[in-house]
Amino acid sequence: MERIPVLNVENLSVSFSQYAGVLRKKQIEAIKDLNVTLYPGEIVAVAGASGSGKSLLAHAILGILPYNASMGGRISYCGNSLTSAQAQELRGKEIVLVPQSVSYLDPLMKVGPQIRKNAKDKPSREKTLEIFNRYGLAAETENLYPFELSGGMARRVLISTAVLEKPKLVIADEPTPGLDAAAAKRVMEHFREIADEGAAVLLITHDLELAIETADRIAIFYAGTTLEEVQASDFAEGLKLHHPYTRALWQAMPRNGMQVPKGI
Ligand SMILES: Nc1ncnc2c1ncn2[C@@H]1O[C@H](COP(=O)(O)OP(=O)(O)OP(=O)(O)O)[C@@H](O)[C@H]1O
Ligand SMILES: [Mg+2]
Repeated sequence: MERIPVLNVENLSVSFSQYAGVLRKKQIEAIKDLNVTLYPGEIVAVAGASGSGKSLLAHAILGILPYNASMGGRISYCGNSLTSAQAQELRGKEIVLVPQSVSYLDPLMKVGPQIRKNAKDKPSREKTLEIFNRYGLAAETENLYPFELSGGMARRVLISTAVLEKPKLVIADEPTPGLDAAAAKRVMEHFREIADEGAAVLLITHDLELAIETADRIAIFYAGTTLEEVQASDFAEGLKLHHPYTRALWQAMPRNGMQVPKGI
């Protein structure tokens, strides 16, 4: 039987129109010819320099690109093409985003109701407390406003919000900054559990060690396109890395002596 990918991104391009001078508009291509496929049960990490298009990929999948962006290519979800209207319909339910910025929290809403999307029933409350417990957040966190949270707490609240229900596709955009190593590990273990239950996880991260430990495959982004995609175990050992940029990333890892090649 043919396995159907949870997510298939084919030849994605995202460009922005910007004013160059007073009357002239120019197109800036931020993503070009990008391909990523995620099968059920898989965690695929996306690693790459700042500005290489990682968040844009997440936003394109979720149908939340900025108004001045135009998109080309094809995104399909569980075998059917995913329009931005459908993505918005599924968002927060089957398809969830752990956003890169904690500013995505609603500043005027207490954490508990925000996580539960205002549901007031007992099972929802119990589920909130269960997930708080899992992420080391005290039960009282429910009654706090986002401005009362530390950076690390806010990050854990964002993750809890995304994974409270059973999603089929998790897109986690840099989920671990501000978390200590133990907390980051707990988040990754949870992602693995979610994947083991049949979901797919797209893990956007700068942290290559974390990607190696957690992901099945690693896609390396550079200037809006995938340079190469490798099995995490091959990356860990420096095997089958074809592109000089990928090899440079590998050499620059602390475990490989943080060598910085000339010209990078
Ligand atoms: N609204 C916008 N208008 C014009 N250009 C934009 C807009 N949003 C993003 N870009 C450009 O698209 C490129 C990719 O941005 P993106 O946010 O996806 O990077 P990233 O890989 O997530 O970086 P980081 O690791 O810093 O989060 C950048 O060059 C950025 O300047
Ligand atoms: Mg980003």
